[in-house]
Amino acid sequence: MDINLKADKAEFIELLRSTGREGVDDLIEYLDEGKNHFFTAPASVNHHLNHDGGLLRHSLNVCHAALKLREMVLAERPELESQLSRASVIIASLLHDICKADIYKPAIKKKKDPNGLWVDVESYNVDYRNFPMGHGEKSAIMALWGGLDITQEELLAIRWHMTAWDLPFQSVEAGKCLNTARDEHPLCSLVQLADGIAANLFEYEDNDLI
Ligand SMILES: [Fe+2]
Ligand SMILES: [Fe+2]
Repeated sequence: MDINLKADKAEFIELLRSTGREGVDDLIEYLDEGKNHFFTAPASVNHHLNHDGGLLRHSLNVCHAALKLREMVLAERPELESQLSRASVIIASLLHDICKADIYKPAIKKKKDPNGLWVDVESYNVDYRNFPMGHGEKSAIMALWGGLDITQEELLAIRWHMTAWDLPFQSVEAGKCLNTARDEHPLCSLVQLADGIAANLFEYEDNDLI
């Protein structure tokens, strides 16, 4: 997937500003300062978009998918308009993975070239030490720390965006909270679906880093 970092960053900022939400500019600054490298981080080490700018591109892909899903859902269920506002869909989808902004460190790894010979390639290692809080819950906290005026519904959609992927490792109470959040807030299901569509269908790339 071709990536234009400058254009992607401009689109990310424009989308966030289009929500008219207070604190957007503070959050953008926060995502790019200190140990956070949101705008240049990869989306993963060995899987989808594992290169500079991958996290930013993934966030945009999730937002694009979420906005299309929103239109599809509202065509069938117009009464959900207030629970699936455009601003909430943009905020929850763009920010669902900001927890990854501080975890990737550049590293050299091995990869087989077309002749089957191992060669050095630039990659990343993962280091959770800056703030080992988890995944969706860490993104939610970072959105608040970044100064964004974010709603409870948006926080829940960010917190629970992994659902089936990490539910087996959660407590019984967490499972009940997830089910309640999903039942009460359609934004949760929308962001989960958009994340899966982006990561599994838009971003599949064959990588064999070790
Ligand atoms: Fe995630
Ligand atoms: Fe994601």
